[in-house]
Amino acid sequence: MHIFDLTGKTVFITGASGGIGLALVKGFVEASANVVAADLNPEPVAAAMAGNDRVLPIALDVSDGSGIGAALAQTRAHFGPVDILLNNAGVKSGERLIDGDRKKIQHTLSVNAEALLNLTRLVYEDSLKNSGGRIINIGSSISSRGAILNYQAGGADYCYSKAIVHDLTQLLAYETAPQGITVNAIAPGIIHTPMHGRPAEETEARHGGRIPLGRIGQPQDIVGAAVFLASEAAAYITGQVLHVNGGMVMSD
Ligand SMILES: NC(=O)c1ccc[n+]([C@@H]2O[C@H](COP(=O)([O-])OP(=O)(O)OC[C@H]3O[C@@H](n4cnc5c(N)ncnc54)[C@H](O)[C@@H]3O)[C@@H](O)[C@H]2O)c1
Repeated sequence: MHIFDLTGKTVFITGASGGIGLALVKGFVEASANVVAADLNPEPVAAAMAGNDRVLPIALDVSDGSGIGAALAQTRAHFGPVDILLNNAGVKSGERLIDGDRKKIQHTLSVNAEALLNLTRLVYEDSLKNSGGRIINIGSSISSRGAILNYQAGGADYCYSKAIVHDLTQLLAYETAPQGITVNAIAPGIIHTPMHGRPAEETEARHGGRIPLGRIGQPQDIVGAAVFLASEAAAYITGQVLHVNGGMVMSD
């Protein structure tokens, strides 16, 4: 078996109808995994993957604990237990922390960080704690780094939520290592998706100039890192944040 092959593995992807999510769904199908494609609105991913019996679209609000229980039961009945959890659902926001709208800040933290931890706990309890597996969180290259970038590309509340995701990744990696689970994050740079709410050329004009590789990213740019981290090839990698950003922010 090839080291990147995921035959027989079940991956649970949240935010599966979005720009990066849909690319991830297609990438994991290509790597031969079974894919649970969960989203607030699963219609786009269901339409894009219609007729593919290795994709199970599910309507799920990641902030809804009881909905998660039902989604995991449905997954188990359809494919068996989850082997790989890919926490990709997220919302963008633009609030300042010092004087921004408290409700908006709370919503960003609730979806991007609290719901991620809650879903991870439930999947751990449901399957991973007994069988090992992989957890991959989608963070962000801007997270807490570089105040100027924060305010040009996103709001501070968004960056705060993603900094939590990066820290959670390392803490959970430590806690779950004894169960043979690896936990890593991918930190995308500026990727052209509906999240930016503008045409690619505008995003390119806004951000392209400061990206060493000379362009903004496309959703497909994230797929290789995710399949790699889910595969046997990454068996000895845990607690890492892998930046996929064209060199926009370089790791320590
Ligand atoms: N696009 C970028 O430049 C960029 C950069 C860094 C990180 N990210 C992260 O990548 C991930 C995917 O973002 P994207 O760019 O594809 O955005 P997107 O807006 O295209 O997709 C986000 C998806 O998440 C879903 N979602 C939102 N709230 C949800 C909830 N409560 N429950 C279930 N699903 C929910 C949406 O319905 C949507 O389909 C996010 O975590 C985002 O923060 C994106």
